Amino acid sequence: HGPGGQGTAEGGVEAPAITPERLRAAGRERGAYTAGALAAAVREGRAPGGRRLHPVMPRYRLTDAELSDLAGYLACLGRDLDPGVTADSVALGAALPLTGPAAPVGSAARDVLSAAFAEVNAQGGIYRRKLVLRVEDSAGPAGEAGATARLLEGGVLALVGSVWGGDPALRARLDEERVPLVAPIEAGETAGDGVVFHVQPGPDVLARVAIHHLAGERPDGGAGAGAAALVVHTPDRAGEAWASGARAEAARRDLPAPAALSFEPGGLAPAAVAGAARRHGARAVLFWGPAGDLASVQAGLDGAGFAAPIYASLGSVAEHAGVLSPHLPGRVRFLYSGPLGERARASSGALRAFLRRAGVAPGPLGAQASAYVAAQLAIEALKRAGAHATREGLIAALERLRDFDAGPVRPVTFARNRRTGVLGASLVHLEPASGDAVRVSGWIDVVP
Ligand code: HEM
Repeated sequence: HGPGGQGTAEGGVEAPAITPERLRAAGRERGAYTAGALAAAVREGRAPGGRRLHPVMPRYRLTDAELSDLAGYLACLGRDLDPGVTADSVALGAALPLTGPAAPVGSAARDVLSAAFAEVNAQGGIYRRKLVLRVEDSAGPAGEAGATARLLEGGVLALVGSVWGGDPALRARLDEERVPLVAPIEAGETAGDGVVFHVQPGPDVLARVAIHHLAGERPDGGAGAGAAALVVHTPDRAGEAWASGARAEAARRDLPAPAALSFEPGGLAPAAVAGAARRHGARAVLFWGPAGDLASVQAGLDGAGFAAPIYASLGSVAEHAGVLSPHLPGRVRFLYSGPLGERARASSGALRAFLRRAGVAPGPLGAQASAYVAAQLAIEALKRAGAHATREGLIAALERLRDFDAGPVRPVTFARNRRTGVLGASLVHLEPASGDAVRVSGWIDVVP
């Protein structure tokens, strides 16, 4: 009969609404339900008046005590509001860094979320409910998990735009309590189901795109088609996800398993890269880590006379492109999952117009864009979830989003087995003079 008892139709059979209002009301086909009539329906499949209920409706063997519990439950079915929901408001939470070095990012995200909600509220809210933003500092001593716990204890329907570190214990708690989270980006390995929906692909997806691209290329120079890639990565969750994506995609394509070299940020020696590349006859280097170490990769390969291409995530180095050597930009194939060209110009123009209209102070545009997109997804899903705003309804509505235009991102799609809205990337070069990203491949999708 559906989570709130509003009725469902499955397999061509309609299970009618069984909310208290509906059961109390007499209809053309049956009388009103009393406690005795409910017992006859549930135990014997008879409606008030004697009509036999459709055989799909099970007959339950219940004791009188159980039946009385059931009647009590049905009496408030659909009335129990999920956490954070009142008759005229829905609270959504964001765990953001509001202190410490990342504070500018956190407060920019907070301002954009609250401006996006204010815009909806100015038009009357969603099903007459105003959106309320609750924010907790994720840079405090208890970190993201502590901030999220405070939000949950304060009562929020869902989490939106949290800077998501991918903490497994926190993910388990959200899964357990079925709290949907719409996060800008997956920090670790991409999960196929659960309650965490992220917009941008994680490192594993980007590495899969790199292997996909490499597989489609004729090997030139020394290393043949049979040669493996060398994955150079930091030993953190993101770096491990990068390595595991490369391994998985190579296995999927029957390519030789990549070799791996892990390093502490800031500690990559050019000679170590050159040595590993030589040992493995590497066809390409897939790099995950800070921009300074990316420069060491290039120095190592150049010093050893290796022409192998270098793949790296644009997102992880873009803000530090200044430290890249002037020759590096053309040499590295950056993986980029955002919009390019005309669409990028149009959507960033639209975002700037929104920020001006909303009176949001200029800030880090990437953080503002991510928060804007997360807010648009949550707003759309809340609209589609219907008047009875529930966590389950919201999760189901997110799962139904297909090619949704959420602003300055590629179209967003989720599904039952897909929690990454944008599942792929294209390859770009950075123009040395302007720093602009120039597309060097078409869009490459990966399968969920
Ligand atoms: C504890 C669980 C359930 C309760 C308390 C319950 C309760 C009811 C009640 C009170 C009605 C009569 C509604 C009316 O006359 O307006 C009904 C009808 C119905 N139920 Fe359930 N139900 C339960 C489980 C299920 C399940 C698991 C299914 C299907 C898999 C189902 C399918 C149906 C169908 C198809 C009808 C319509 C029958 C007809 O009008 O001929 N119900 N249910």
